[in-house]
Amino acid sequence: MTTQYQNIILEQRGEGIYLLTVNRPRQLNALSADTICELAEAISVVKADKQARVLLFTGAGEKAFIAGADINQFKGLSPLGARELGYAGQGVGSSLESLGIPVVAVVNGFALGGGCELAMACDWIIASDNAKFSQPEINLGIMPAFGGSQRLMRLVGKAMAMELCLTGRMIDAEEAKQLGLVNHVYAATDLMGEAMKLAATLAQKAPVASKFIKKVLQDGQNMSLSDACTLEVELFSQCFTTADQEEGVLAFLEKRKATFKGI
Ligand code: COA
Repeated sequence: MTTQYQNIILEQRGEGIYLLTVNRPRQLNALSADTICELAEAISVVKADKQARVLLFTGAGEKAFIAGADINQFKGLSPLGARELGYAGQGVGSSLESLGIPVVAVVNGFALGGGCELAMACDWIIASDNAKFSQPEINLGIMPAFGGSQRLMRLVGKAMAMELCLTGRMIDAEEAKQLGLVNHVYAATDLMGEAMKLAATLAQKAPVASKFIKKVLQDGQNMSLSDACTLEVELFSQCFTTADQEEGVLAFLEKRKATFKGI
């Protein structure tokens, strides 16, 4: 199944594996308002598919993941329009975050501004060795608005988020990994192969437990330790309502690989 949009490509690459690609390589995949709308639409398509198991998010071409919001749309933009744009971008970030399946950003080049922000809204980031990250909005006299200031702070700490947002400094993939922004760095030619291997692994895990793990790590960030631990044990107990829990335990005891069905 391949759904064709104007500025993005949503395709299925194997059972339960979706690949979402921003497809404006000549503009380094900059996010126009239309592109943001299409992303929101595509994510809702994935959300509606009960067989979806994992979403990979990347950019077309060899140079960029996403080089930020499309700067052309900033000229003459009213404060009201800016607010709408910010909320639209934040909406895409939130929908990636709240999708009940693992979402991995596959960063294959520049991840700047809104690009870095949407990558951070994914569950984790893998990157090519030529990837570059920055929040350069300060150089345009503006600031992050797709949730980036807050997600960056949660990922790398307040002081480093301050430095990166206030200087707009561009960091390479290795530094991004050291800071905890990126989980793994691969040679550019290996990145998509590694992403597909990861997707195949994730697609075979128990879907309900995956959803609960994602929820507790996501929601737990904004809870007290004790409330988050209560949520953890509640979700753990709900795992025991699933056939997949029985299958997982039985498969271990029978020394075979479990086959999970998402029920
Ligand atoms: N919005 C709109 N167009 C963009 C863009 C953006 N965020 N980023 C790149 N482009 C366009 C360029 O204008 C250029 O278009 P053109 O060929 O019609 O002139 C094309 O993409 C290629 O970019 P170019 O600047 O020529 O490539 P480069 O290798 O010299 O530089 C960057 C790459 C990423 C360093 C540079 O494009 C850049 O700084 N982009 C803006 C990044 C930014 O500030 N993003 C945050 C926005 S809030």
